[in-house]
Amino acid sequence: MAVSIIILAAGQGKRMHSLLPKVMQPLAGKPLLQHVVDTSVRIGADDICVVYGHGGDAVPAAFAGQKLRWALQAEQLGTGHAVQQAMPETPEGNRVMILFGDVPLLRPETLSRLLDSCGADEIAVLTVDMQDPFGYGRIIREGGNVVRNVEEKEATAEERAVTEINSGVMVCPAGRLKGWLDGLDNRNSQGEYYLTDIISLAVADSCMVHGVKADSWVEVMGINDKKQLAEAERALQARLVDELMTQGVGFADPARVDIRGSLNCGKDVYIDVNAVFEGEVSLGDNVRIESNNLIRDSQIGSSTIVHSNCHIEGAKTGDDCEIGPFSRLRPGAELADNVKVGNFVEIKKSTIASGSKVNHLTYIGDTDIGKDVNVGAGTITCNYDGANKYRTTIGDNAFIGSGVELVAPVDVGAGATIGAGSTISKFAPADALTLERAKQVTVPGWKRPKKKS
Ligand code: UD1
Ligand code: CA
Repeated sequence: MAVSIIILAAGQGKRMHSLLPKVMQPLAGKPLLQHVVDTSVRIGADDICVVYGHGGDAVPAAFAGQKLRWALQAEQLGTGHAVQQAMPETPEGNRVMILFGDVPLLRPETLSRLLDSCGADEIAVLTVDMQDPFGYGRIIREGGNVVRNVEEKEATAEERAVTEINSGVMVCPAGRLKGWLDGLDNRNSQGEYYLTDIISLAVADSCMVHGVKADSWVEVMGINDKKQLAEAERALQARLVDELMTQGVGFADPARVDIRGSLNCGKDVYIDVNAVFEGEVSLGDNVRIESNNLIRDSQIGSSTIVHSNCHIEGAKTGDDCEIGPFSRLRPGAELADNVKVGNFVEIKKSTIASGSKVNHLTYIGDTDIGKDVNVGAGTITCNYDGANKYRTTIGDNAFIGSGVELVAPVDVGAGATIGAGSTISKFAPADALTLERAKQVTVPGWKRPKKKS
């Protein structure tokens, strides 16, 4: 039977003390709400509707292009009222699963288990046992079945002692849900339409309500403030690193790595402390990432080593390369196999063919470098005249001396040698020495200036 997922995301999140709506707060590099949407897509939901309100159109705008339905809840009158906003366009015959935009760590497996736990015209609520259930709705059972939920503020002392809490996640038949929602009132301590009150309405309607327990409270944790956001971040990182270790990736310290996106690893990859991976990153077999590296949207070839303190973004390396320490690869840096890039070297929108080395203090921008080229220390490709950018090409086997400026557009032929300290602005022919330097002079009798007394 088709499943509609309704994600409640209209709340403000006052306790975040942020200009960003709560569901837009980033967790592992993407908004809280995106995690819930991605999980919904992964369980194969047929229809996903987000109830939004606080933050206005900024929330739907941030999700433009994703297959989502949006329902505005202009005033936040409670979780029951929020679900009601999504119902007019929800097909009567569907099952509805309700999720919260600020409960991002639910696993698809748990949601599938919840769906499988009840019949098409029954209700299932996801619960969990909590040592300190303060603040949550308590699940009241009779003869093992769930009969109602009572919110903290309405609970008696006896009910408060119940440790099984309501996660807020539930599954119900859409047609019957509409009727129960119409039956809600707001006569409670918060003056809100509580979604949770549909449980007792359903029971009165002879509808079976199943309580399904999640394995850990971490999955159902709601994010209300920056402390809980940080706690959720650590929990999610631990989960991601655990998966990678199970696949055979080695970490110096599983607690000191951050993955904000997807990290694909080959065999025998080793990652030292404080590596941050953002966007889509892939590491080939036997790659070694040393400490303090940021790698974003990049591919690192097999057996390549990235020494400490590199910043790599939108770049690709071949196999057996050596990068860093202190290298910066910018978007469009493409290295073939066996390339070496050393300390304080920046490479942008450039290709470097196999066996070439750029080892020290160099800027390579908008350049194509051939095979087995040696670029000397302090070389700069002058690719920008203040208005436009131009390319530099360097042929195979060229040798660029130290401190050379290559003023683009300019070509250096294969096998050419450029003398140290030259400013090259015209073609440098293949297999010849080209240099551009003023004659060295020595001034006889010259004295250093003296300090005035
Ligand atoms: C809710 C449940 C409680 C459960 C807890 C789990 C109710 C009445 N209570 O309480 O049983 O233990 O979640 O975290 O449902 N929202 C809207 N519009 C509204 C009100 C809320 O979109 O008018 C959204 C919020 O943005 C939030 C979610 O619904 O994402 C939950 O609302 P919140 O007010 O935090 O409910 P709780 O009091 O935590
Ligand atoms: Ca809450």
